Amino acid sequence: MTGREDCARLDAADPLADRRGRFELPEGVIYLDGNSLGPLPKAAPGRVEQVVREEWGRGLIRSWNAAGWIDLPRRVGDKIGRLVGAAPGQMVVADSTSVNLFKALAAALGMRPGRRVVVAEREAFPTDLYMAQGLSELLGGTVELRLVDSGAVGEAIDGDVAVAMLTHVDYRTGAIHDMEALNRRARDAGALMLWDLAHSAGVLPVELDRTGADLAVGCGYKYLNGGPGAPAFIYVAERHQASFRQPLAGWMGHAAPFAFEQRYEPAPDIRRALCGTPPVLSLAALEVGVDELLAADMGLMRAKAVSLTGTFRRLVAAECAGFGLSFFGPEDPQACGNQVSVRHPEGYAVMQALIHRGMIGDFRRPDVMRFGFAPLYVRHVDLWDAVAHLRDILETRAWDRPEFLRRAAVT
Ligand SMILES: Cc1ncc(COP(=O)(O)O)c(C=O)c1O
Repeated sequence: MTGREDCARLDAADPLADRRGRFELPEGVIYLDGNSLGPLPKAAPGRVEQVVREEWGRGLIRSWNAAGWIDLPRRVGDKIGRLVGAAPGQMVVADSTSVNLFKALAAALGMRPGRRVVVAEREAFPTDLYMAQGLSELLGGTVELRLVDSGAVGEAIDGDVAVAMLTHVDYRTGAIHDMEALNRRARDAGALMLWDLAHSAGVLPVELDRTGADLAVGCGYKYLNGGPGAPAFIYVAERHQASFRQPLAGWMGHAAPFAFEQRYEPAPDIRRALCGTPPVLSLAALEVGVDELLAADMGLMRAKAVSLTGTFRRLVAAECAGFGLSFFGPEDPQACGNQVSVRHPEGYAVMQALIHRGMIGDFRRPDVMRFGFAPLYVRHVDLWDAVAHLRDILETRAWDRPEFLRRAAVT
């Protein structure tokens, strides 16, 4: 049995405990949704205000040079690179994850002429599939999207495959895919691997360079704490940059944006993955969130995440048995990212009832409640409290109220 005192003991010994004070966490809220939107780093408003008032307000257009705005996509990209095992010069921050997927997929098809197959999991995050479908339509239906069951991407990679795309940590189950093995598999078949790091960047040790990844994308607003709608990132391994040609050939990806030449000539480096003007205010906020992660030790973060994940599963199993819950995802916390997914036929309403009490997670259709554990601010006692409420809500059927059953636009 894990009691609240056991949880408090684990928190007292937590080497990351002081990091929690770096985030705005409203009184009475237990925040288990950093996998969807990271909380506000306390340093972010000051930094954004400085950029607004000084760099924009006083510096005006001079700040593109004087304040280094023009270099922000690469500067913040290199910092994110440090979190995911990418040496400098291979990552930029730009656009959204969806747009970056489009660029990467299109470039990958160009890098493997003669091959027209894109492999993806049927249950991949829908935007990944939509972007592949949109690209295929644009190319006159000449691209075959080969959809496979979860966990079957490796065996689907054959000599016809140009690129396989995969979310490193499954957004529904939290299952971690073996990046090294899949990179090897793709390389052996002459294909490329494109990783979606939406649910791993910033919280899970990722080794893009060492494992031989080809391409990767990911979100800035989740574990990177960049704020709502924060820009995304894109990684192109250095060995591929010369052949990486993406179709959103905007001026910021040009070799000489201010030469105003009429013909597009891609930048000789990772900047060719850029398209248009960078969102400076959002980049400033994102940099603060990334800096918070860089100041912590990834090994400690992973160890704490494993402890949180295991604790949550144990607590739910012990406290909520008999109420129709089932786990969805790996039992072994080592095989799982920073989340536990729990199914319940009324999962949406149960989650709404939890949120009403300040225990914030989220819901994914058809019946999955997701609880995310960002190690910089989630404590073991938070899990104990959240599970006590979960039990109470199930026991008393507190979820069974019209306002909890009504679906909002964002779940
Ligand atoms: C795996 C994955 N990919 C992509 C996205 C979203 O991408 P975008 O930044 O384009 O909204 C999400 C959002 O939750 C996601 O979970």
